[in-house]
Amino acid sequence: MIYGDRIRFRAVEREDLPTFVKWINDPEVRHGLGIYLPLSMADEEDWFDGVRNHPPDERNLVIEIRQPVEQAGQPAQAPGEAAWQMIGGCGFFKLDSRNRCAEFGIMIGDKSRWNQGYGTEAVRLLVQHGFNTLNLNRIYLRVLENNPRAIRAYEKAGFTHEGRQRQAEYKDGRYLDLLVMSIVKDEHA
Ligand SMILES: CC(C)(COP(=O)(O)OP(=O)(O)OC[C@H]1O[C@@H](n2cnc3c(N)ncnc32)[C@H](O)[C@@H]1OP(=O)(O)O)[C@@H](O)C(=O)NCCC(=O)NCCS
Repeated sequence: MIYGDRIRFRAVEREDLPTFVKWINDPEVRHGLGIYLPLSMADEEDWFDGVRNHPPDERNLVIEIRQPVEQAGQPAQAPGEAAWQMIGGCGFFKLDSRNRCAEFGIMIGDKSRWNQGYGTEAVRLLVQHGFNTLNLNRIYLRVLENNPRAIRAYEKAGFTHEGRQRQAEYKDGRYLDLLVMSIVKDEHA
């Protein structure tokens, strides 16, 4: 486990896949993602089986928040006791081992948790993990220009705008720019 103040990261388990499929098939969640086709359980299981061949540092992480047991939908064996509830996922990819840089992606799939700072906290925790555990030097992301919630979360987490890939993504009948944002280790407190 990787612990933050209100969240923690854990490894993805096969039992998590139906929840990811439900989230990714929600048009509001998918709006910010590069995925444009409905996703089946078989697609997701193929992805999960392939993850074992990914470099360990690129394995996806589940984002969980601490909840009273009753609200987390788990059996209330001990009322009032804290439990952890899955709200999304994140992870690095395209890790370049010589230049010590990587891209990352994030999804808070549980829409009821948007705009409560969890996305920003997850980005900060992932950045801390990237710099302090994986020994990365540069972490970057690409975000659609029409995703202001994500852009704001990345700015709050300390990312700098560094460029724009013009008309890089065709979505909803038009071409959208992809903004490139990054943070380097020297900027990280
Ligand atoms: C993008 C995402 C990770 C952000 O997580 P989150 O927990 O909702 O974000 P936070 O609460 O930490 O921060 C959101 C900020 O955006 C602001 N915001 C929300 N909607 C906005 C809008 N339409 N315009 C401008 N700012 C907006 C919020 O007010 C908040 O800023 P504030 O704290 O200064 O008020 C999450 O919404 C998500 O996963 N969305 C679906 C998938 C996705 O788009 N992933 C990113 C792909 S690049």
